[in-house]
Amino acid sequence: MSILVTGGAGYIGSHTCAELLNKGFGVIVVDNLSNSSLTALDRVEEITGKSVKRYVCDVRDEDALTKVFQENSVDAVIHFAGLKAVGESCAKPLEYYDNNVGGTVKLLQCMQAAGCKKIVFSSSATVYGMNNASPLREDMPAGGTTNPYGTTKLFIERILSDLYASDKGWSVSILRYFNPIGAHKSGKIGENPRDIPNNLMPYIAQVAVGRREKLNIFGNDYDTRDGTGVRDYIHVADLADGHVKALDRVLGKMGLDVYNLGTGRGVSVLELHAAFEKASGVKIAYEIGPRRDGDIAECYADAGKAERELGFKAVRTIEEACGDTWRWQSQNPEGF
Ligand code: NAD
Ligand code: UD1
Repeated sequence: MSILVTGGAGYIGSHTCAELLNKGFGVIVVDNLSNSSLTALDRVEEITGKSVKRYVCDVRDEDALTKVFQENSVDAVIHFAGLKAVGESCAKPLEYYDNNVGGTVKLLQCMQAAGCKKIVFSSSATVYGMNNASPLREDMPAGGTTNPYGTTKLFIERILSDLYASDKGWSVSILRYFNPIGAHKSGKIGENPRDIPNNLMPYIAQVAVGRREKLNIFGNDYDTRDGTGVRDYIHVADLADGHVKALDRVLGKMGLDVYNLGTGRGVSVLELHAAFEKASGVKIAYEIGPRRDGDIAECYADAGKAERELGFKAVRTIEEACGDTWRWQSQNPEGF
């Protein structure tokens, strides 16, 4: 079976490529390298001993994408390609709508033309907006997103659902990720932010390795067990496993399904900080500052549906994720 992985050189994509290869799938990557490097795919080949076919191109480039489908017999697509920085999406909304929404429409058109109607899509817990209380369930109303990035995910979910309504020959799995963290246990691939990290785990890791002075904790006056924000951190290797399970489902049956990929467990900023200090043996300086605009007190998944229907359960601990992140960051202090 051959799987086309868009955005396969990125953080979650590269870990999923490794898992796909380990499971015996052939992997074809399409990536424009706007936020990644081909070194990630070289490392995937090193880890697995198998090769990845690569196309450096944009998913919005119809001619290039058509050629990919002509040159390969693609059984299904896993679609990671997209821009993901919340702050940047507020400054450049048109770029986000063009890349994420426009890119997905172009990809779906090329898939339709090629007769490939099976897709796994990277959505986000951000589509639950500000108005639902955790644990978040897939049947809660999506909407009320607070930034263009989140709205692109909401729109793409809607596009996929309209497409399926128009043609029941499609097979679609929408995966709403909670907070991906961690790295491959080899330390060879991991998260590689280009600029100052927005997310907690890469920020902590860069403080630990000496690239940043201290962590700023955004508020300790939330109504949570220690006052800091609570999130559902899922190891990227578990996430990769979830993609293979979702892929098995789209390969096996037609339909459209939405799944949370989370652990179902909330962890606070201070708890993650303490776990990282323990795993790395490095003291991580921090300062408590004001809340970040748009943040909520807690966000974690009801992970039951993915377990019941996909047989997926996140099994790796926060401690393991911190240890793996530290191995990756300390072996690659400047990233790839
Ligand atoms: P990433 O930036 O590491 O990976 C995205 C990849 O897509 C990059 O390699 C980038 O070069 C490529 N890309 C971007 N636009 C492209 C285009 N038009 N054509 C071809 N390639 C393109 O990000 P990631 O963390 O691996 O995220 C993967 C997906 O998961 C994204 O869609 C993201 O929105 C979604 N997601 C991520 C998180 C997270 O916290 N990391 C959470 C929820 C959802
Ligand atoms: C962010 C995104 C969200 C995306 C999610 C998963 C924002 C506003 N939201 O949310 O759209 O779906 O990542 O990728 O960017 N924190 C600090 N100091 C830091 C960084 C974070 O204290 O330097 C705190 C935050 O206040 C929060 C927790 O750590 O309580 C996690 O933050 P982060 O990693 O940015 O994830 P989300 O807030 O869930």
